[in-house]
Amino acid sequence: MVQAAILGYGTVGAGVLQVLNMNHETIARRVGDEVNVKYVLDLREFPGTPAEKILTHNYQDILDDPEVGIVVETMGGLKPAYEFTKQALLAGKNVCTSNKELVAEHGVELRKIAREHSVNYLFEASCGGGIPIIRAINESMTADEFEEVSGILNGTTNYILTSMADEGKSFEEALKEAQAKGYAELHPEADVEGYDACRKIAILSSLAYGKHISYKDVQTEGITAVDQADIAYAKALGLKIKLIAKSSRSEKGTWAMVAPMMIGSENQLYTVDGVMNAVFVKGNALGDAMFYGSGAGSLPTASAVAGDVLECAKHLKETIRFDDTSEAMELLAPDEVTVAFFARTDASEEAVKKVFGEVQTIRLPEYPDETGFVTSVMTEAAFAEACKAVGGVKKFIRRG
Ligand code: HSE
Repeated sequence: MVQAAILGYGTVGAGVLQVLNMNHETIARRVGDEVNVKYVLDLREFPGTPAEKILTHNYQDILDDPEVGIVVETMGGLKPAYEFTKQALLAGKNVCTSNKELVAEHGVELRKIAREHSVNYLFEASCGGGIPIIRAINESMTADEFEEVSGILNGTTNYILTSMADEGKSFEEALKEAQAKGYAELHPEADVEGYDACRKIAILSSLAYGKHISYKDVQTEGITAVDQADIAYAKALGLKIKLIAKSSRSEKGTWAMVAPMMIGSENQLYTVDGVMNAVFVKGNALGDAMFYGSGAGSLPTASAVAGDVLECAKHLKETIRFDDTSEAMELLAPDEVTVAFFARTDASEEAVKKVFGEVQTIRLPEYPDETGFVTSVMTEAAFAEACKAVGGVKKFIRRG
């Protein structure tokens, strides 16, 4: 029997215990051995729950137990998750995690320690909730050179933007609902300011391109400035506003960005609504591929973590190979990135066209004092200069 321990009995940890119990026989058949959860570590008590009889408050119980071969870290945050993970790996135990913050910050180091001890540090649930995108990049699309990774990588913000656009809900109301459904981070600014999606695109892009992209280098904007006027313009243009995480690699260089973008139905991410996430990849042999599924929530995320538990159970003393390097990827400066823009200005259509040329303009009766316009593709630096020349530009959203 393979013994596991779960660190943190929150939304995801409780989901992992539920999945491993609910699908016990199927998992045993697939692994060729039973997988049992021997401990749940948490500071709190959980009377009347499946964790009650296996609960410990002392991590040493788990570290000192030679039977425990797999540690599931679903605590979130860096402290004490980093130390606990390191200790488990050093003790020759595999670790599976949903903790994108830890993977983005210390993943390279933790995977190195795992390799040195012939165990695994797996993190499928860190990106895209239940979508098996990391395994697809790492084990399936292995013959391709990747040219692009993009996606809707945060369920909370997609839920908020969809509720605002489809049901006219306020930002605050939609965020509260996302929190009640267990989608949001403990500190929801990680979601709404784009930090969570930033970590996820850094993790995925590093694996896809085989060089380390630090999340600190990814230009990141959240959705807190998106208002009903922006949504009205998007609708009038036949577009939707989505928080897009994207990286792209070409001969000109590599760039990575998280920002709200207006996208149209020509973009495969257009129909990805609510808590759903999708990841789009472009390979030089495969071409386009898209992966779609629940981006947050207890059981979808637990499904990905439990999948990693199975992988570890099948490779208890053998490290699964990753295209993993600490060599840093140089990114283009944000100013050099080329993209089209939607913008709103107090200036007239004539003033806009004088500077930007024959671009598409739009005027909405509800906002009689402003002009909306969509530019052609240009560098961020050129757009900023042109906006100065027009004057009165109060808002812009990239046209993805
Ligand atoms: N808060 C995250 C989200 C959870 O909304 O996507 C899943 O990583």
